[in-house]
Amino acid sequence: MDTQALRTGFSEVFGTAATHTYFAPGRINLIGEHTDYNGGHVFPCAISLGTYAAVAPNDAAAFRLFSANFPDAGTKEIPLAELTTAKDGAWTDYFKGMAQVLQAAGATYATGLDVYIEGNLPNASGLSSSASLELLTGIILKDTYGLDATMLDLIKDGQKVENHYIGVNSGIMDQFAIGMGQKNRATLLDTNTLEYESLPLAMGNNVVVIMNTNKRRELADSKYNERRSECEEALARLQTKLDIKTLGDLTVDEFDQSTYLIYDETLIKRARHAVFENQRTLKAADALKAGDLDQFGRLVSASGVSLAYDYEVTGVELDTLVTNALKQPGVLGARMTGAGFGGCAIALVDKAAVPDFTEAVGQAYLDTIGYKADFYVAEIADGPRQLD
Ligand code: GLA
Repeated sequence: MDTQALRTGFSEVFGTAATHTYFAPGRINLIGEHTDYNGGHVFPCAISLGTYAAVAPNDAAAFRLFSANFPDAGTKEIPLAELTTAKDGAWTDYFKGMAQVLQAAGATYATGLDVYIEGNLPNASGLSSSASLELLTGIILKDTYGLDATMLDLIKDGQKVENHYIGVNSGIMDQFAIGMGQKNRATLLDTNTLEYESLPLAMGNNVVVIMNTNKRRELADSKYNERRSECEEALARLQTKLDIKTLGDLTVDEFDQSTYLIYDETLIKRARHAVFENQRTLKAADALKAGDLDQFGRLVSASGVSLAYDYEVTGVELDTLVTNALKQPGVLGARMTGAGFGGCAIALVDKAAVPDFTEAVGQAYLDTIGYKADFYVAEIADGPRQLD
């Protein structure tokens, strides 16, 4: 999206000229799913699709917010004196939540700000449009009001918005993947310690194809919080005998020898996913470092199987995309990405095979589900930034 178009959009809504423009990416996760609230590793990267903003200070003593993605919602005016109000269930909650969290951390907003937002991440697709908006808001407020906040602070603040304002008990992966995003690199993050490593995503002739089910995924309404409590219950049962802080502390053998402490089919499946997925993620990062793309692909697919059968967060739409993707020539691996329950899957595909791949998987999806899937070749991109 060019910044001139953003500035024009801003002027049409607010009747003045924007002073700055900004961008924050979305993310895909390569592997390490539903591990970030289990003390495990994740391996995501930021993508070139994301959220744009054009801004200018106003003298209305309010944040005035407009999104080209929700034009019918009009311009939402949030008086600076009323920043502490509860959420409204609108897109503006992410901006307001972030402004509130930063205020609690010491920010003062002396003047108002007009903000025009436009995103090209498909909404509710599991590519983290909310974390993208949180980090975008973070860099805008930091820049405009001279806040003393590091990127890591903004990442943690974004998670606080989800947990304490929006009411989704999510981990830190999305905000971290976006905040620390680097072009053509993926972030191997230990969510227990927040130590991380940025690794080149050297995939040879292969690209990451994002496959969108076009089935909306609503985190707050989904079974996300339920999965989290199931893992907490499994952990509590293990802790009756084991000295561990998270499921991520266990090797697969230690887990296998301790399932008698859980003794519940569902809880064992959930915890098994968390433990194995953490180990798979480390192996996948090693495979990528060693240039063993076949092994990397197999681990990605194994993650998908575990998410479908042990963690049970896929559903017919994601399963249809992934099983058909795995049947195509030139595919190293495929799985759902993000929270699941709809949203997107990824496939690692030989560049030359992409047109046939999208044609075949797209047709199979249409035949089975009755509406279209969308396909995008992911560009792995830098994190949040001022554009001009
Ligand atoms: C959502 C959450 C993340 C993470 C993923 C699953 O994207 O926001 O914190 O838990 O689901 O890996």
